[in-house]
Amino acid sequence: MKTYNTDDTHIITMNKDKQNLALETKDIHVWYGDNEAIKGVSLEFEKNKITSLIGPSGCGKSTYLRSLNRMNDQIDGTKVTGKIIYKNIDINSSKVDVYEMRKHIGMVFQRPNPFSKSIYENITFALKRHGQKDKQTLDEAVETSLKQAALWDQVKDDLHKSALALSGGQQQRLCIARAIAMKPDILLLDEPASALDPISTSKVEETLINLKEDYTIVIVTHNMQQASRISDYTAFFYMGKVLEYDQTKKIFTRPKIQATEDYVSGHFG
Ligand SMILES: Nc1ncnc2c1ncn2[C@@H]1O[C@H](COP(=O)(O)OP(=O)(O)OP(=O)(O)O)[C@@H](O)[C@H]1O
Ligand SMILES: [Mg+2]
Repeated sequence: MKTYNTDDTHIITMNKDKQNLALETKDIHVWYGDNEAIKGVSLEFEKNKITSLIGPSGCGKSTYLRSLNRMNDQIDGTKVTGKIIYKNIDINSSKVDVYEMRKHIGMVFQRPNPFSKSIYENITFALKRHGQKDKQTLDEAVETSLKQAALWDQVKDDLHKSALALSGGQQQRLCIARAIAMKPDILLLDEPASALDPISTSKVEETLINLKEDYTIVIVTHNMQQASRISDYTAFFYMGKVLEYDQTKKIFTRPKIQATEDYVSGHFG
C-alpha cells in the first residue's frame, strides 16, 4: 500500500477571537503501553459547529475523541500528554474533577447502549445521581431532551416502557437525549450511526444538525457522505496524526494534501 509523508500537513486555525472556540487541543499524544496511537494533535473546535473526524481504520480517531473527555483514563496502561483547553482550563490536568467535567463534555458511543430501564429513567438517571430530586424538573428534562433528540413524538405515551423495546435508531436517539439531559456544551459521538439502517441514520443526522444551535459537536464517522452532509469542519487523521483540517467543503472538493484526496475519493481506507 502507498504510504504518505506525515510531515506534510495543512491545519487551519480559526484565526478569530478565541471566544469562538468551544475546545482546543494542544499537542495531544496518547500511548497504549509502548504504542503511541496519537502523535501530537492540535485542533481547535468552533462553538455551535459540527466537526467530523475521518480517516482509515486504526488511525486513532476514537482514541483522540476519547481523550477529549478523558475516557482513556479508564483504560489501563494509557498515557495522555498535551493540553485540552475548555473555558480556559486545561481539563487534562490531574487537578480536574473528571466526573464534573463530563457534565460539560458528554459522549455517545457507536452501539446504542441504553440502560435496561424505562425511557424516563434512562434520561433522569444521571440527573438524579447529581442530586436532582424535583419531579417537575426531571419531567421537564425528559421532555426537552427527547424533543431535542427528535424522539418525543414517538415515545411520549410510553415513557415508562423499557428503552430496550425501542428500535436501534430510536435507542441511539435516546442515548443522545440522555447525553443532552445533562446540558453539556460539547457532545462527542463515535460513529453514532454505523449500526443503523439508512432511515435511522438520516434521523440521527437531522437530530445532530438541529442540536448544533445549542451544542458543539465532534463526530467520528467512516461515512464520507455523512461527513460532507452534516459537518462544518473535517479533520483527516492518518497514522496517529492529523494531516489536514479545514472547512468540510474544502476537504471534499479541494483538499490540499494528497493523502486526504486519495482517502475521500475512496482510494484507500
Ligand atoms: N483499548 C486499547 N488498548 C490498546 N490499544 C488500543 C486500544 N484502543 C485502540 N488501540 C490502538 O490504538 C490505535 C488507534 O486505534 P483507534 O481505535 O483509536 O482507531 P480508529 O481510527 O478509531 O479506528 P476505527 O476506524 O477502526 O474505529 C490502533 O493501533 C489500536 O490498535
Ligand atoms: Mg474507532
